[in-house]
Amino acid sequence: MIRRSAHLRSLIRYFDVGSSVSKLGAYKFSSRAASSLLQAIEPSTDSSANDDEKTAIDWNNLGFGLMPTDYMYTMKCFKDENFTQGQLSRYGNIELSPSAGVLNYGQGLFEGTKAYRRGNGHLFLFRPDQNAIRMQNGAERMCMPSPSIEQFVDAVKQTALANRRWIPPPGKGSLYIRPLLMGSGPILGLAPASEYTFLIYASPVGIYFKEGLAPLNLYIEDEFHRASCGGAGGIKSITNYAPVLKALRRAKERGFSDVLYLDSVNKTNIEEVSSCNIFLVKDNVLSTPATNGTILKGVTRISIIDIARDLGYQVEERSIPVEELLSADEVFCTGTAVGVVPVGRITYEGRRVEYRTGSRLVSQELYSTLVGIQTGLIEDKRGWVVEID
Ligand code: COI
Repeated sequence: MIRRSAHLRSLIRYFDVGSSVSKLGAYKFSSRAASSLLQAIEPSTDSSANDDEKTAIDWNNLGFGLMPTDYMYTMKCFKDENFTQGQLSRYGNIELSPSAGVLNYGQGLFEGTKAYRRGNGHLFLFRPDQNAIRMQNGAERMCMPSPSIEQFVDAVKQTALANRRWIPPPGKGSLYIRPLLMGSGPILGLAPASEYTFLIYASPVGIYFKEGLAPLNLYIEDEFHRASCGGAGGIKSITNYAPVLKALRRAKERGFSDVLYLDSVNKTNIEEVSSCNIFLVKDNVLSTPATNGTILKGVTRISIIDIARDLGYQVEERSIPVEELLSADEVFCTGTAVGVVPVGRITYEGRRVEYRTGSRLVSQELYSTLVGIQTGLIEDKRGWVVEID
């Protein structure tokens, strides 16, 4: 049974459920099909499956595609009440009313955090409390109850441990953990839903961008905007993401890695990239857009700011005119999913600007320090790393 399921799992991996282009072209394999197949072939696999299964995963070729894992975590509560008790269950489809608040009015938030494996085998999370706080802030904005910080962190730990066999070996990637909070109760007129669901699932991931480790090639968008003043750009609302898909698809079709958005009022200041925050370096001073309501308060963003200041760099959080970005020495992006990644080129109004890449980048120094703290090579003075076993 184990050998057969290992073989099927590697087949599922081969079809790369998260990739838009199947490796066999004509064969499309949806994540739902993969999930159902896994459940059908492994009805009784528990979270401590043996090494035979572990080796069936090709840890050397992890991208950012969904690879369904064994367990998910769910906790529910009614409007005007608090979350109390959640539970783990097998990963699978959930049941939702067609009139659920999240489906009809987008009353939903998501988070992203990662579990890592150290060389000594220990498992850890990185600043999960920051994701909990951000979810609480978002929930307040979207009129939803939210889990307490303790409930959130405990649920993330439980999900990581239940899926521990999916946490890649050190240096090969991480287990991306995706907490969701949604209005799951039925509603017809525009109002907060009557019931809420907090759900966490996970997937092993490697490098986010298809270009691998190559410096990013960004396109500055001046037609579509990601966020507006007074809107939801500063929280991790699900409604911030589908509206950028058109700009993203257009840019990718033209060979760009991602899109950088401008402020929606004057179209003069840079904001953020579809999937991450942005920094520029000029004369060894770092600058990044201030989190004034339209910029997501990235956990990697603030961690890199703290690390840069510790290393003696001046860091400015402020409005940044696009022209200033175009004259920077170095540009890089930060995010949980993307990590810290240098930008090689930016195109704006038909003009292409190239940035410093290669070795001895400021971003490389900052990222190495971050990874050093995470892996234990550098002292974790701020208590960012949370060991979970
Ligand atoms: C993350 O970095 O965790 C995100 O949520 C970005 C997402 C677009 C993959």
